[in-house]
Amino acid sequence: MESYHRQIALITGTSSGFGMLTTVALAKKGFQVFAAMRNLDRSGPLVQLIREEGVSELIEIIKMDVTDPLEIKQVVNQIADRFKRIDVLINNAGYAAPGFVEEVSLEEWREQFETNFFGVVSLTQTVLPFMRTQRKGTIINMSSISGRLGFPALGPYVSSKFALEGFSESLRLEMAPFGVHVVLIEPGSYQTEIWRKGLEATASTSMPDYQPWKERIRLEVEQTSASAGNPHDVIRLIEHILQAKHPKLRYPIGKGVKAGMAFKSLLPWSWFERIIVNHWRKEKNPR
Ligand SMILES: NC(=O)c1ccc[n+]([C@@H]2O[C@H](COP(=O)([O-])OP(=O)(O)OC[C@H]3O[C@@H](n4cnc5c(N)ncnc54)[C@H](OP(=O)(O)O)[C@@H]3O)[C@@H](O)[C@H]2O)c1
Repeated sequence: MESYHRQIALITGTSSGFGMLTTVALAKKGFQVFAAMRNLDRSGPLVQLIREEGVSELIEIIKMDVTDPLEIKQVVNQIADRFKRIDVLINNAGYAAPGFVEEVSLEEWREQFETNFFGVVSLTQTVLPFMRTQRKGTIINMSSISGRLGFPALGPYVSSKFALEGFSESLRLEMAPFGVHVVLIEPGSYQTEIWRKGLEATASTSMPDYQPWKERIRLEVEQTSASAGNPHDVIRLIEHILQAKHPKLRYPIGKGVKAGMAFKSLLPWSWFERIIVNHWRKEKNPR
């Protein structure tokens, strides 16, 4: 077993966005970080950032696709063999599959859940025995405003994040007696790769009835992504959560996020629905 005064953190989806920035931020705070990504060919930006920040001794980049249970086992066993513990797990890997419910194939629905939901379940199950035994640990699940509010043309993503919310609530209650904290972060829109990937995928959908609405959504997503928040705000929140003695279950963050959630809980659903539908369909599709 290697020496260990440092806390051990495992983060998924570290090739870009929140995962990449969190990896370096936690190393700078003194964590030993295992930065997992599904494709090591995409490690260039993280490697460069690590070099710029001078934290290479505290970060190991490892291959792990969260949809591959065998890889998950190998990675967790490798960390456990060396350090006998894992202090922090950040279930960050995810993507947003766009499309209207009837357009998205069942296969794409399942793929969305395999990554955003079952990937989290699988990795968490594998890490839990260590955290439960050590009576200590923090699991941060990267949810979204889409885990609290439904949006049109994002059904698979929204559903996967709602599932993640329910999973995290149950897990939090199960783990409380063992000193393991389970936390949800619920960001609004932030400038990461997720927008570009989503827009690229949007172009491939095609039912004419949805076309006008889809065009409006595409423009809205482009505008939102251009004015999206600075991802470093989310990284600072993660640092804050990891320092908290009693972290909360939910941390909504981002422009309009708390207001959106308040509207949903305070307004009758019929009002809320009218506002959302009118907003998305205005001008482009007057029917
Ligand atoms: N940015 C936002 O506005 C926003 C808002 C709310 C919630 N979130 C959530 O934040 C998390 C991180 O996303 P991001 O915004 O940082 O986007 P991002 O830059 O696209 O990063 C997503 C990461 O997840 C990885 N990933 C996707 N599928 C994977 C799989 N099967 N196994 C392992 N890794 C996988 C990606 O790897 P590849 O490079 O190989 O694709 C990438 O490293 C996601 O869970 C997302 O839902 C983001």
